[in-house]
Amino acid sequence: MAGVDYQPLLDEIAAGVRPQIGRGAVASYIPALAGVGIGHFGMAVADIDGQVAGVGDWRRPFSVQSISKIYTLALVLAEGGEDVWRRVGREPSGTPFNSLVQLEYENGIPRNPFINAGSLVVTDRLLSLTGDARGALRTFLRAESCNRGVDFDIAVADSEAEHGHRNAALGHFLADLGNLENDVADVLAHYFSQCALAMSCRDLALATGFLARHGLRGDGSRLLSVREAKQVNGVMLTCGAYDAAGEFAYRVGLPGKSGVGGGIVAVVPGRCTVAVWSPGIDEQGNSVAGVAALDHFTTLTGWSVF
Ligand code: DON
Repeated sequence: MAGVDYQPLLDEIAAGVRPQIGRGAVASYIPALAGVGIGHFGMAVADIDGQVAGVGDWRRPFSVQSISKIYTLALVLAEGGEDVWRRVGREPSGTPFNSLVQLEYENGIPRNPFINAGSLVVTDRLLSLTGDARGALRTFLRAESCNRGVDFDIAVADSEAEHGHRNAALGHFLADLGNLENDVADVLAHYFSQCALAMSCRDLALATGFLARHGLRGDGSRLLSVREAKQVNGVMLTCGAYDAAGEFAYRVGLPGKSGVGGGIVAVVPGRCTVAVWSPGIDEQGNSVAGVAALDHFTTLTGWSVF
């Protein structure tokens, strides 16, 4: 709560995860990410009143990748309400984040909004609702993180677009099965930009505060209803770490969302948000040291939801 001194806790976690830093591999299927040094580690905690503490590389921007999927979903729910759930499910997929297989036999309705297919549908909806999905997202994240410097890394977006055959396949499949409203190329361009947002642990911890505040933005205005915030947290718990969501719930016990840039954001409802970054990821796309740090966090504080 307000006034908690997180620094000793963060220092202890950083020391505890040191052997994990450098484990896993930096994502290389997006070539622009391959050059990031594997030895980074940063972690930040933001209280619901906006106080932030951090350790290590907590102020250094990195590629948020799939963490962006939380915010596009929240904006779509805020702007368009529950309609989006007719086009995307809420069940864990049990398959890799970029898998194509379920989409055909489930008739173009992605299992959840955090796998790539589901996020393409959400971005398509945000594009229809706003006319500029990436712009709406950037405006929101700049405001919530109190950082006008939050922006897209164009080199990362271009790199992903050049090597984006799998996402293009998913986009065309969704269009063929009648689950896109906009041109595939437009949806992909907005999706690649959202994934290429460069933000720090500090920025992400602050920007996710609305989920710890049961839907309230940093300025006290309401983005989501209490029920919608509960629902987004629920989908993060069950689907936020893809085919390792069970393991993440087992070890961390919080709603969380990972990205192949090595970032993870987790929510302690009613209390705080935690963002961690270390670029070495496991085969499911989750930061090895990041999951370990969050495991330490909930073990030391007792603040898992269980
Ligand atoms: O679409 C992709 O494959 C990437 N831009 C994002 C994937 C991702 O971050 C999965 N998370 N662990």
